[in-house]
Amino acid sequence: MIIFDNQNDLKLHLEINGVNKKIGFVPTMGALHEGHISLIIESTKKCELTICSIFINPTQFDSKEDLEKYPKTIEQDILLLKKNNCDILYSPNKSDLYKSGEKAKKYNFKSLESVLEGIYRPNHFNGVATIVDKLLNIVKADYAYFGLKDLQQTMIIKELVKLNKIKTRIIGLPTIREINGLAKSSRNKLLSVENKENASHIYKQLLIIKENFKQNSIDALLKNAKEKLINNNITIDYIEIIETNTFKISRNINSKKEYAICIAAYVNGVRLIDNLIL
Ligand code: PAF
Repeated sequence: MIIFDNQNDLKLHLEINGVNKKIGFVPTMGALHEGHISLIIESTKKCELTICSIFINPTQFDSKEDLEKYPKTIEQDILLLKKNNCDILYSPNKSDLYKSGEKAKKYNFKSLESVLEGIYRPNHFNGVATIVDKLLNIVKADYAYFGLKDLQQTMIIKELVKLNKIKTRIIGLPTIREINGLAKSSRNKLLSVENKENASHIYKQLLIIKENFKQNSIDALLKNAKEKLINNNITIDYIEIIETNTFKISRNINSKKEYAICIAAYVNGVRLIDNLIL
């Protein structure tokens, strides 16, 4: 695996070695886990060149504290990438991607950003879109892979690509879970064994909602899930059913549309998100 810490060398390398090759790209913030690796594996199956980026993007964090406590495991990440046949790692410093004092661009993702994460993390998606736009322009991949654990992020990135006429195809891949159902996340590294046991109730409640979705009222399902989660020391930011394509919060079901249940919650101060397509 070749490692680049600046975009000019990476671009030069791709101009020579990337021609006529299908390029797959997996942008990450490091602290890699099986979820990321499933994206790398899919890319290596489909593409001739797989590029991963590791960059903890400051403009998408709401607080300095959250940014500082984000896990960093670069040596382990490099080993995992090599083991899984990643061809190139782009792992730059902030100055390679942002001018001094540069802030996130302002985008308009309409209904996709005016709910859920968009409300609880204002400016988060502007930060995500700013960095993904920069990265996609550097790598110019045929395919870019994202985990559907971040369903709203994946929808926003699909919209970004449409708005900016970027040629890369955005592929969302299923959430990978621990044995107890907890969605794999870099933030899980901040949880104790006991915290993880509590956190497993998030998925359990999502499954109960999925199983009872057609028979019960949405309000009753959400109320029941909230009670169970609170009883397991989980603090909820939101738990909502949304229409998958528009991300509009739904209370009435139209059998022709697809819905998802989305949650963001804290376990011992660690913010976790998850969702299930219903
Ligand atoms: O999902 C992530 O890890 C990040 O939001 C991303 C897409 C790498 C942008 O910084």
